[in-house]
Amino acid sequence: MTTDTGRERQRDAAGQLRHLLTLEGLTREEIVRLLDQAQGYVRRPGELPARDASLAGRTVANLFFEPSTRTRVSFELAAGRLGADVVNLEMLSSSRIKGESVLDTIYTLQAMAVDVFVLRDAEPGLPAYIARHVAPHVSVLNAGEAHLSHPTQGLLDALTIRQRLGDTAQLTVAVVGDVRHSRVARSAWQALATLGVGEFRIVGPPELMPDDGEFRGARRCPILAQGLEGADVVMALRIQRERMAEARIPDAHTYCREFGITTESLKLARPGALVMHPGPMNRGVEISGEAADGPQSAIQQQVANGVAVRMAVLATIVRHSQAQTPPATTGRTVG
Ligand code: NCD
Repeated sequence: MTTDTGRERQRDAAGQLRHLLTLEGLTREEIVRLLDQAQGYVRRPGELPARDASLAGRTVANLFFEPSTRTRVSFELAAGRLGADVVNLEMLSSSRIKGESVLDTIYTLQAMAVDVFVLRDAEPGLPAYIARHVAPHVSVLNAGEAHLSHPTQGLLDALTIRQRLGDTAQLTVAVVGDVRHSRVARSAWQALATLGVGEFRIVGPPELMPDDGEFRGARRCPILAQGLEGADVVMALRIQRERMAEARIPDAHTYCREFGITTESLKLARPGALVMHPGPMNRGVEISGEAADGPQSAIQQQVANGVAVRMAVLATIVRHSQAQTPPATTGRTVG
C-alpha cells in the first residue's frame, strides 16, 4: 500500500470531486462552496434538523478501524438526514482481524450496493488505496487517516471560525498541543491556508512539534505566551498517546501548567478569543473544564457543524456518482 494522499485521485475525469481524501489541492472556491452548502444545513439549537433527499436510495457504510464517537455518529446522522441507508461496521472486532483483507470487505459491501464508504484508519494510505479499487460510481470519504488528514474536521473547524468571526483572512489562529501527531491540525491548516488566514501558529513543546518541512508558512511557538498573544482563535489538541512512544509523552501535570488552555492562560489571547477543541477532551490536561464550557467556547458548535459539513460533503460527492451510474436496465416490470 502506498501513502498516496489522494490529492489527484479524488477527482473524476471531469475534475469534479468524486471522493474526499484530503483537503490538499481543493481550490478556495471549492472549500467556500462546501462551507456555504454546510451553512444551509445548520439549524439553531432546538430546531428540527435539516433534511433533504439528496441521498435517497443510496447506501453509506461507516468503516472505522479506530475508535470514534462524534465523527462516526455525525456521518451516520448526516447520511440518514439526506435519506440514505446507513450501515455501521464494527471494524475494531471485525474481518481484518479474522484475516479477510479490507478490500474483500469493501467488495462484499459494494456487492450489497453500498456506494459511499466512510473510512477511518490508524495507518496512512487506506482511503486512497480503497479509492483506487472501488467501482466508478462509488465514493470514499476519509474520516481520519493516521496523523495525516481529517478533511471533514478541517472543514467544520473553518465553518465554525467563519460563523463566529467572519472572514478568516485577517485572523490569528493558534493551534496548541500535540501538533506533531494531529490530523486535525494538518487539515485545519490546509483549509485555512487555502481560504486565507492572517497568521497560523503551531504552539507546543519541541517533542510535539511537526518536522520542519511541514506547516510551511506557519509560525512555530515553543512557549504558550508567545503562541497565544493576540490570537483570535485558540484550538487545543489532545495528546495522541496512541501515536507515540512512551518517551515522547510529557507528564500531564507539567504539560497542563505549560500548555494547558485555562481561563488564566486565555488572558494572553485577544479578549473574547474563540476556544476550540476537536474532542475527545482530557479536561485538566490540554484544556480546563472552565475554558471548555465557558462563554468563549465554540466546542459544541464544532460538533453541530460536523453534521452539517458531512451532509454538504455527502451531497456533493453523490452528485458526481449520479453522473456515473448507468441507467437502470429497461426490463419488463412485473406488476
Ligand atoms: C480527533 C481525531 O480523531 O483525529 N477527533 C475527532 O475526529 N473529532 C482528535 C482526537 O482524537 O484527539
